[in-house]
Amino acid sequence: MFKKNAVAAGMAAFASVALTAGCAVADGSKGSDADISEMSADELAEHLIFETDSFRDQEMQEGGDWADRMTQDELQQACSMKGDPDGETAGEVVAMARASYEAPENLELGDWRKGAELADSGYGYRMGHKNDDHSQRDPGGNCYNCHVFDPEVSEQGTIGPSLENYGANRGDGEAVRRYVHEVISNPHQYFPCTQMPRFRDGKEQLLTDEQISHIMAYLLDPESPVNN
Ligand code: HEC
Repeated sequence: MFKKNAVAAGMAAFASVALTAGCAVADGSKGSDADISEMSADELAEHLIFETDSFRDQEMQEGGDWADRMTQDELQQACSMKGDPDGETAGEVVAMARASYEAPENLELGDWRKGAELADSGYGYRMGHKNDDHSQRDPGGNCYNCHVFDPEVSEQGTIGPSLENYGANRGDGEAVRRYVHEVISNPHQYFPCTQMPRFRDGKEQLLTDEQISHIMAYLLDPESPVNN
């Protein structure tokens, strides 16, 4: 997720939208001789991120600035390679992820309705625009970006596996709850160097245990639309 290439790809998407919309992307190259009109989307993204001041002064919501956001932690560094990790790296990443995990006090399911909202919401720590106001609205999990939960909902991503009928297929026992909590908190415990973000145990805590309990209910509660 935070690999340099992935960040660049995301920025390429952002930059091409901004270009077609005629926005101020060119500000990024003030004082530079680079001709951004000759660049591919990837080159432009690399240029904006690494060679210009376009993000340098931007404060990040979690504190610090863009450079802090771009600085990889130990796990991200271990996962910065092309393709899948080799066996040794995978083992190290799993061990790192397990060492940082702490089980919550209880694994009760929350409210699947709140979980549905959180899974759908990409509100939170977005960059390249004004800060998201957490006093008005909690950050979400943005899960729909990568997963199908409910076939009735349009616009769900396919980077991750479909989670349709997740609880109906697996039941709602203690072991399943523990596994789902572990995956959402830090999926590298099972999928080393996965693209799925660490929602609780990453560089920043994106979701609280309470929010995760609502999302777990959305996946596992027999009443949830995911299972009907
Ligand atoms: C950037 C994409 C991405 C986002 C965002 C994402 N996931 Fe995932 N998720 C994946 C991928 C990819 C996998 C499969 C693991 C792998 O092979 O890397 C996965 C696996 C899972 C699994 C395990 C599936 C199984 O078969 O047991 C669960 C559960 C899950 N995700 C839930 C969530 C939830 C809940 C959210 C939001 C809080 C979320 N994911 C956000 C990409 C994502």
